[in-house]
Formats: sequence, structure tokens, C-alpha cells
Amino acid sequence: RLPLDIDISRLAPGQQMTVSWQGKPVFIVRRTPEALAALQSPALTQKLRDADSTTNQQPPYARNWHRSVVAEYGVYVGICTHLGCVPSYTTPQADGADNAGSGGYACPCHGSHFDLAGRVYKDVPAPYNLPVPPYVMPSPTTLRLG
Ligand code: FES
Repeated sequence: RLPLDIDISRLAPGQQMTVSWQGKPVFIVRRTPEALAALQSPALTQKLRDADSTTNQQPPYARNWHRSVVAEYGVYVGICTHLGCVPSYTTPQADGADNAGSGGYACPCHGSHFDLAGRVYKDVPAPYNLPVPPYVMPSPTTLRLG
């Protein structure tokens, strides 16, 4: 299959977009400096099931604290690891579900929550972090999936 190039030049800090890749939704989120700080804070990471990405849910180049190639941009397959519903983006302002106030993704089916690096919270039905698809960034504003 051919790789899919996505123009992310109009994605503002704090926004996310969903694209379709190989029949799956893929979330691309541009994280603010505040969100990046929150991803590293113990207030958040202690609430996560696998904060250090020990399960094989990402390529080796995304096994880091931001689970991505470039920290500012997160790229995740938007399929809940519980039973496959599509989680909704929750902004830092609107999200009352995560006490760290950093936003993330909420699954409408059985209440699983993920942070802005797609990391699953403890005490929810989903067992694993959201997968990171294979991708590269051939330019600062282009993301190539596949
Ligand atoms: Fe997402 Fe069950 S499918 S919580």
C-alpha cells in the first residue's frame, strides 16, 4: 500500500484531527507546552497503567515519554483497546475525567480514558495504550503514515 501524506500545517496547538488510514481512524494531536509538561508529571503518570510504554503498542522510535517522533505531535490509532469503539478527543479545558487536567481521549462505550499520548489510565476496561501507527515526518508540517 502507498503511504498517506497528511498536511498538518493548519493544526493549531491544542487541536486534533482524525484521518482515515487503512480503514482505521488515526488521531493526530498537536500538544501545547502545558500538555507536554503534564505528560511528564507524576500527577498524571501515576494514574496510568503503562506510562513507560512497556507493552508493544508502538514502533521503537515512539517508545519515549511522548510516544511519538516529534514531541509536539501525537499520532495514535483511534480504536479503543477494550472492544474497539472510537474514543473522543477531550480538551484540557473540557475534560473533568483526568485530574491532571491534561486532556486526552474518552471512550464512549465503557468509559476508558487515555491521555494525550494515548496512554491508558488505570482502573478502566481498556488493557493497553492506543497503538502508534508506523509513520515518519518528512517535513515539519507533513506526516507520512505507512
Ligand atoms: Fe472502549 Fe470498551 S470499547 S471502553
